[in-house]
Parts: sequence; C-alpha cells; structure tokens
Amino acid sequence: MQPKKARREEILDRLEEAGGQRTGVAKTVQRQTLVPEADIFGVATFYSLLAQPEAGIRVCQGLTCQLAECEHLKSELEADGKSSVFASCLGRCDLAPAFWDPEDESQIDRAPGSPSSPDLAIDLAAPDSLAYEALHKAAEKGPDWVVGELEASGLTGRGGAGFPAHIKWQAILDQPETERYVVLNADEGEPGTFKDREVILRRPHLVIEGLAVAAQCLEARDIYAYVRGEFGRVRAALEEALQAARKAGHLDDGVTWHFVDGHGAYICGEETALLEALEGKRGMPRMKPPFPVEKGFRGKPTLIQNVESIACLAGILRRGGAWFRGLGRTEPGTKLYCLSGHVERPGVYEAPMGTTLRELLAMADGVSGTLKAFSPGGASSGFLPASSIDMPMDFGGLRAAGTMLGSAGVVVLNDTVDMVWAALTQAVFFEEESCGQCSPCRIGTQILRQALERYRDGDPGALAYVQDVAWGMGEASICGLGQAAALPLTSALKYFPEEFGLASAPGGSTTS
Ligand SMILES: Cc1cc2nc3c(=O)[nH]c(=O)nc-3n(C[C@H](O)[C@H](O)[C@H](O)COP(=O)(O)O)c2cc1C
Ligand code: SF4
Repeated sequence: MQPKKARREEILDRLEEAGGQRTGVAKTVQRQTLVPEADIFGVATFYSLLAQPEAGIRVCQGLTCQLAECEHLKSELEADGKSSVFASCLGRCDLAPAFWDPEDESQIDRAPGSPSSPDLAIDLAAPDSLAYEALHKAAEKGPDWVVGELEASGLTGRGGAGFPAHIKWQAILDQPETERYVVLNADEGEPGTFKDREVILRRPHLVIEGLAVAAQCLEARDIYAYVRGEFGRVRAALEEALQAARKAGHLDDGVTWHFVDGHGAYICGEETALLEALEGKRGMPRMKPPFPVEKGFRGKPTLIQNVESIACLAGILRRGGAWFRGLGRTEPGTKLYCLSGHVERPGVYEAPMGTTLRELLAMADGVSGTLKAFSPGGASSGFLPASSIDMPMDFGGLRAAGTMLGSAGVVVLNDTVDMVWAALTQAVFFEEESCGQCSPCRIGTQILRQALERYRDGDPGALAYVQDVAWGMGEASICGLGQAAALPLTSALKYFPEEFGLASAPGGSTTS
C-alpha cells in the first residue's frame, strides 16, 4: 500500500483522468486516494482547466491579446457554434489574438525571431544537437567543476528573480540530505512571455541535457518537468527529445523523469506554489525561508530552475563560463527577450543582456505606430514611458529604476493606448490569479481593480487610497504576485499622471 502522501500526489492526475471537476468526481478520487473529498474539491476548483472542463476553446485576454481585439475572436468563434471562455494568458502573445484549442495546437507554430549566431547562448534558430558533450564533460570533471563554471558564467535565473544559479547548486550540494530533486519550471504564465515555449519547441535537447547535468551533479534520482497545461505540443517535444537522448545512450538509467502538466493557474509558476501542485495540493506559495534548496519537494533539497536558465548550461559547460559572461553587455550572458503588442514582428529575440528597447525594436522591425509605453518584464513589471527606450534591459538596472526585467516579456504600447485601461487590464489579471491565501494580496488586488473601475466610470476621488493599498501589498504579501500586483497602476500614475487627472506624479514609496 502506498503511503498517504504519495496518494495525495496522485490527486491531480486522477482529476484529469476523470475529466475535471464534475458531479461525483471528488467522491471517486476520494476513494482512489483516501484524501478527504472536501480537500479534493478544493484542489479541483483551484485550477481553471479542471474547474471548467467543458469550457471549449480558451481565448486569451492578456493585455497583448486585448490590444489585438480578442473579443472579436471570441464572438467569431461563438458565431461558428464553438464554445469558448476567456483565459488569463496563454503564453502565445506573439500570436495575438491567441486561443488554445485542446484538440488542435497548430496555432503555436512560429518562426524564431533572431537569426542563428555562434555568439548566442541558446540560439533558437540553430539545429538542435544530440551530442550531449556538456553532460559527458560534466561527468568527467565532477560537481565542483560544474559549479565553478556556473559561478564563472555569472548565470542568473531567467524565470524572473535573477538569482545566481551557482549559489542554489552549491546550497544543495551542501545539504546532508541525499534524497534530492531537480524540477524544471516550464509553467511560463507571465503575460507577455513565451520564450520557454520556443526553447523547448526548438532546442529541446538543450533542456534535456541541462536537466541531466543537474541531476548528475546534485545526485538527484528524480527529475520533474512541470509544463503548463496549455502547452501540449511543448511537452511532447520534450518527451520526444528525452527518448532520442535515451536511445543515443546519453542518459543515466538510474534517474527517473516525470512529466507533469500544469492545470491552468498562473501562480504555479512561483516555485513553492509549483511544489505544492506537484504534491497534489492547491498551488499556494509557501513562506520562505526555508527555501526549496533546503526543503523543497517532499521536504527535500530541490533545485528549481527555469527553462531558459537550464538551457544555458550546455553552452556554459562546453565553451566555458567566461565565454558566457562575455556575451553580456551590462550583465553576463545573452537573454531571450519576448516582444509583443504594438511591434511589427513579434517574437523571441536573443540579445546581449543589457540590450535596450530601441535595439530590440530594430530587431523586430519597429513599433506599429508611435511608442508611448512598454512593460519591460511582463505584467508584474508595470509600465515605463517611451523616454526609457535607451535604458539597458537587465536585472540590476531595471530594479534600480523601480521596475524589473522579470521574464523579459516586453509588451509595447503605442499612443492609441489609454493607460487607465492598460492598468485596469493588468489589475483584472492579478485579481483573477491571486491564490487568495494572504489578505494584502487577495483584498488589495480587488480594491485596486475596483478603484480603477470607479475612476474610469467618472469618480475622480476613486484613486485616493491606492498608494496606501499598494504599500501594504508590497510589504505584507507572501509572494511576488502580491508584491508586484500594484506596479502597473503605480507606474502608470507615476509616468502618465495626466491620464488620471493629476498635474504631477503622486508621492508615495511605491512610485518612487
Ligand atoms: C507570481 C510568480 C510567477 C512566476 N512564474 C514563473 C514562471 O512561469 N516560470 C518560471 O520559471 N519562474 C516563474 N517565477 C519565478 C520562480 O518562483 C522561480 O524564481 C524560478 O522558477 C527559479 O528558476 P530560475 O532561478 O532559473 O529563474 C514566478 C514567480 C512569481 C512570484
Ligand atoms: S501574495 Fe497573492 S498569490 Fe502570493 S500567496 Fe499571497 S494571496 Fe497568494
């Protein structure tokens, strides 16, 4: 008989097999797993793909897709007799207005943005290679060499936080606990971001090789790839690459690979929420510390790394950490920047870390119209004005400017965009995606959305308290969602006060 904890980990699979939350399903899964029915119901209703199993086609209502008039797409689908619902963001901003039809994922196809070059760490347009040189070199030279090269490379996490990779790897090596896990974060959900999708579709061997290096170096016996549920073809590409690498004899048979589907919850991209999901629970972020490197999956040391971070490893180990560091301009390495919104050629562009928006726009054939504002790193990064076009796009510089590089989901807005509307669109996203666990975020996201709606509907005093609410959210929320959720509004107030009926930017710590 399996221990209860392992049974709990089966809940999401069982719910998926049963076709999602329908009458009687929680009871069936309760019998299969022995987890209380109410608990199962709570899990099922947390995840949008399980909670609305018969919703049909998902139409994206992220900011970029709203710019591309996603409402019309939805009306057209309905006129064709196809049922559809709006979804928060589908990771297809380059294809706006985007939709996801679980029966047909052909819409995901797109040419890579940057042409191939030996000076790119990932190089999406290059042919993928089954050589696995880095893995064999790492096996020969050992963990200290691997961590040393990672340190020399200066690689920082590409999932959003920009944390130095070598520190996490070393922290796991330092743990006395020998049951360790490696987790790939392929939940890519930040509006404006679709780079991890492209990495896996075009260079899946870079990801498999990077994960194999991590497991070998950290002596992990299990690798979990958590892939967002709307990326069926992406997951398939990864699984095919794994089979090919196995067939070529590159992989250690002692390591078990697990592929896990996300179920439609943006918050599960947050690393500890992801761990909760892997454990069969609602994806609610954990308090940190302890960090996953100490107590992660099943309470054991766990390396969680973003797809782009993992894909950088092969090049770093093959060509040396110093090579990778030298690719960057203001910080180490190249970076995958996602360009969408009002640009002529949306796509994923790989460029030296610290490239400016002006340069990225040149790669993407320019702005459609006249540049007004942009989000440098997805919804969580708020907005910058057109005057920031020459600001280096890196982790440190953008942080110092009160915003963030995040996942480098760059959304470009032209001068037809009303910033009150743009801030409201992002406020709706955060309110819908808050896990609801802590009150500053649960209530704060609701207050901000309501204040913006009241202002839009003609109440000039509606925004009186938003700076205080934003401060409370930033200081007291458990995770990055609540800490960043006010930024679209506070940054829009700061840079476009006239659109909110103000003569100048309001004071307050969150807008400075
Ligand atoms: C609300 C929220 C959503 C996140 N979504 C993602 C995501 O979709 N993909 C990702 O890799 N990291 C995401 N992160 C960052 C992860 O928590 C974590 O920092 C990352 O997976 C670590 O890998 P890295 O060091 O390689 O970036 C998110 C963080 C927050 C706060
Ligand atoms: S900040 Fe928001 S998303 Fe994060 S734990 Fe709190 S309620 Fe959940």
